[in-house]
Amino acid sequence: MADIQTVGVVGAGTMGNGIAHVIARSGIKVRLCEVEQRFLDRGLDTIRKNMAREVAKSKLTQPEMDAALARISGTLERTALMDCDFVIEAATERFEVKQAIFSELDAILPEAVILASNTSSISITKLAAQTRRPDHVIGMHFFNPVPVMKLVEVIRGLATSQQTYDTVKALTERLGKTPVEVNDAPGFVSNRVLMPLLNEAMYAVMEGVATADAVDEVFKLGMAHPMGPLTLADFIGLDVCLDIMRVLHDGLGDPKYRPCPLLIKMVDAGWLGRKSGRGFYSYS
Ligand code: 3HC
Repeated sequence: MADIQTVGVVGAGTMGNGIAHVIARSGIKVRLCEVEQRFLDRGLDTIRKNMAREVAKSKLTQPEMDAALARISGTLERTALMDCDFVIEAATERFEVKQAIFSELDAILPEAVILASNTSSISITKLAAQTRRPDHVIGMHFFNPVPVMKLVEVIRGLATSQQTYDTVKALTERLGKTPVEVNDAPGFVSNRVLMPLLNEAMYAVMEGVATADAVDEVFKLGMAHPMGPLTLADFIGLDVCLDIMRVLHDGLGDPKYRPCPLLIKMVDAGWLGRKSGRGFYSYS
């Protein structure tokens, strides 16, 4: 572990900037890579705001925040990752996008470097097969908001080596997170169990069993969930929920995973939840 000094993070969106945040906070240097300057600027800005929030809550001191920010450097060139000791990909949740990134990283990075993906549902085994180092490819699935949520679901592809798993487990713990080991399967454990719950909550709304507010109250007050399932779906993004339901439906072939028609309709309308200003709730 002492040899991981610089981690490359591909993608500065919600998950990527959160991952860069926790890595820098733990004392490791981060090279954050994006495809456009405005996405990079937005990601760095979010990290600054979230760290300032931690300073305000006395979870971080101002000098610690300054030092953590100084450990992060942004780049628009993937070749700038060539001297990283470890890379985590957190790009758009589409196989073709991740496939291209994995092939490119495989070509520029020394073969001992581990390539991890923060995918929420794409097969690690299939991503690993895009490289010449399938034993060095693994899933590191973080949860939103990354600076707050303790879990990292660590996903072993068919070829992932024990050494790769052990390195990722140790890195996860160094970040102050708890790794939970799972095997590669559609939706892994988290989304295989969570998404059908959110999807079923949407069916309840669609069928007029209860309002979105009422469904959420049931889960907040009855099951002590911090957010009800429809608030959570808006928070995750309804497009992301739909993509994951489709991965479960296609991958497991069981009709119980069919996406709720209301979810499909809302995504078609561009109602994607919090990020678009409208989902099951309105956000100003
Ligand atoms: N960065 C740093 N700190 C943050 C933060 C961020 N982005 N967001 C919230 N916080 C901190 C707050 O400062 C606050 O700190 P405190 O405990 O010291 O006061 C604490 O987190 C709680 O935040 P708030 O007081 O603002 O609000 P809530 O109490 O409502 O908590 C929440 C917000 C942590 C988001 C909580 O509602 C929650 O846990 N929701 C469920 C989130 C969840 O289930 N995430 C998983 C989604 S699934 C996923 O990511 C996987 C994917 O594949 C789909």
